[in-house]
Amino acid sequence: MLDVAVLVSGRGSNLQALIDACESQDFPARIVVVISNNPDAYGLKRAKAANIPTSVINHRDFDTREDFEEAIDLELKKYKSKFLCLAGFMRILDARFVNRWKDRILNIHPSLLPSFKGLHTQERALESGVRFTGCTVHIVRPEMDDGPIILQAALAIDPDDNADTLSAKVLELEHIIYPEALKLIALGRVRVSASKAVIEKASYPSGGLVSPEIIN
Ligand code: GRF
Repeated sequence: MLDVAVLVSGRGSNLQALIDACESQDFPARIVVVISNNPDAYGLKRAKAANIPTSVINHRDFDTREDFEEAIDLELKKYKSKFLCLAGFMRILDARFVNRWKDRILNIHPSLLPSFKGLHTQERALESGVRFTGCTVHIVRPEMDDGPIILQAALAIDPDDNADTLSAKVLELEHIIYPEALKLIALGRVRVSASKAVIEKASYPSGGLVSPEIIN
């Protein structure tokens, strides 16, 4: 069983997807703590509703990023967390912290990385005229929205889509692939090298591009 901490800053719908997955008996990971830098994050309420310990570590209470991350690290140790999932965590983590947790931090991003790193991904996808968008679960490296890709899910952009409709469609896919990626890692089916992750072939004949039909 992999003991996981989830870091959130807001709504926490991906956290909810992870909570729901962990509730199933045979899921190989469990959430030991949910940490938020934002005391008002709705994700904290979701965690409490699921009887998961929560902790607020507000970045505003610290003079430096290093001190803030040190406090997070202490909390992770307190709960004996072995792995971290960033789920809408809106603070950039310093290289020191990321390297300390090398290959043990997962993030979800609402684009087909390496395209559209950063914010407002669906607006930028629409503006650029790409035909597909989607989401990516990847191992965190010190550069923002960078690192070995575990799973991606893609969808075709409809000419009538706007940023809101696209975000909603992508979010549905996020809720599928985030628990799935965590499961693969917890089962030891992912091999991570410097820039690439390889999934045991038997897990996904498609090699990591997920369509809901493959999962269900
Ligand atoms: C998601 O779109 C995720 O991909 C991005 O931040 C958003 C968080 O949403 N990293 P939620 O808090 O999980 O609902």
